[in-house]
Amino acid sequence: MAIRFNPFAPQEIINPYPTLARLRAQSPVSWNEQLGGWLLTAYEDVKLAQKDKRFSAERVQPFSDHMAATGRPALESMGKLLNDWLLFRDPPAHTPLRRLLVDTFSPRAIENLRPQIWQIANELLVSEFENEEVDLMSDFAFPMPALVIAYILGVPDKDLEKFRLWSNDLATVIGNSRKVEDRFDIGAKALRNLTEYFRGEVDSRHSQGLRGRLIDQLIEAQDANGVMTKEELIGTCILILFAGHETTMHLIGNGVVLLLKNPLELKRVQKNPGLIPSMVEEILRYESSVFAIVRVAKEDLKIQGKKIAKGDRVFLMLSAANRDPSYFVNPEKFNLSRSPNRHLSFGYGTHFCIGAQLARVEAEIAFRRLLPLLEVSELVNQELDWDDNFILRGVKTLRIRQSC
Ligand code: HEM
Repeated sequence: MAIRFNPFAPQEIINPYPTLARLRAQSPVSWNEQLGGWLLTAYEDVKLAQKDKRFSAERVQPFSDHMAATGRPALESMGKLLNDWLLFRDPPAHTPLRRLLVDTFSPRAIENLRPQIWQIANELLVSEFENEEVDLMSDFAFPMPALVIAYILGVPDKDLEKFRLWSNDLATVIGNSRKVEDRFDIGAKALRNLTEYFRGEVDSRHSQGLRGRLIDQLIEAQDANGVMTKEELIGTCILILFAGHETTMHLIGNGVVLLLKNPLELKRVQKNPGLIPSMVEEILRYESSVFAIVRVAKEDLKIQGKKIAKGDRVFLMLSAANRDPSYFVNPEKFNLSRSPNRHLSFGYGTHFCIGAQLARVEAEIAFRRLLPLLEVSELVNQELDWDDNFILRGVKTLRIRQSC
C-alpha cells in the first residue's frame, strides 16, 4: 500500500520522522499530492540532487504557477523581488552575488566576531532567570542571532521588533505555512516593507559615506563595478537578514527541546562542555531547522526508476536524509558525541549555506550560556507547539521555568 505523508496533518507536524523513515525505506522518490511535488528522502539522492545540473534552484516562478488561483497576484509581485535573491538563482547569475559575501562569512571573519556574539548573548541572558518563567524563543533564541546579523549588516538594534514581525510574515510564504490563510498577502506586504526599509538604510549609509559593515561593502561593490544592481543589493540584504536569524533561532530552540527531553545527554554535556561543538552538529542532524529545500527539474529525468518531468518541483528532504540508516549508525538516537556526522542540514554544493560557520559559533556560544541554566529548568508545556512551516522546522514558543 502506498505510504501517505500529509505534511500538514497535526501528527506529522509534531513528529514527521516515522512516516519519512517508511518513505525512505519503501519509496525514496515519491509524489506528494499536498505539496504538488516529488519527495526525495534517501541521503544519497538528496545530496546528489544538489550537485545535479539537471535541477535548478530557480523555483520562484514554478511555485507561483503551482499556487494558481488564490493569492496569485500577491505571489507575482513577490516573485519579482525574490528573483533577486542568490538563493533562487543558478550559476552563472548566482556566482558573482555569492562571491561578494564570501569574505564576510569566512571562518576567520566569524572568529573575529566572537567577542561581539558573547556580549550579545550575555546581555540578553543577564536578567532572564530572575523571572519565574521565560519564553526562550522570544526572549533569547530570536533576538540573539537577529542582533548578530543586524550588527554584521549594519542596521540598528532598535529595529529588532520590525525584523521579528516582517520575518515571521515572510516565513509563512517562503516556508509554506498552510494554516495561515492569507499568507500570500501577508508575505507580500512583509517583503515590500523589508524592501522599503533596506532601500532607506542603503541610501542613508551611502549618503553618509559609512564604511565597515556588509551593507557598505555591497554598496561599494555596486558603485565600483556594477556587479550587482540596486535591486540585487537590497534582495541580498533581505536574504541575509532573513536566512541569518530564522534558521539559527530554530537551531537554538530545537537544541533546548532535545536537551530537556534527553536529560542523560544534557548531564553528559554539562559535565564535559568540550562536547558542545559536536552536540551542535547532532542538533543540526537530528532536528534540522531547514526541513527541506526545493529544486525544479530542468529536463525529463529518472531517479530510482521514477520519471520526473521537466518543470516538476522536487523537495529534497534534508530531515529524512539526516536519519538515513545507510549513513548514520542508530540514526533515531540523539547522540551528542556522534562521529562522523555528515548531516546535510547546511545543504551541499553550489548553494551550501554561506552562514554555516556563523550559525555554528552562535549556537556554541548560546549553549555555553544556556547549559548551566538548563540544569535547573524544565519545560512548562510538555506539548510543544511546532510551527506548521514546511521548510523551517521549530517551535513557536518554549516556555521554561526553574525546576524545584
Ligand atoms: C542553523 C542555521 C542554518 C541552517 C540550518 C541553514 C541552512 C541552509 C541551507 C540548507 C541552505 C541551502 C539552501 C538551498 O540549497 O536551497 C542555506 C543557504 C544559505 N544560507 Fe543558511 N542556514 C543557517 C544559517 C544561516 C546564517 C546564520 C546565514 C547568514 C548569513 C545564512 C545564510 C544563507 C545564505 C545567504 C544562503 C544562500 C547561499 C547560496 O545560495 O549560495 N544561513 N542555508
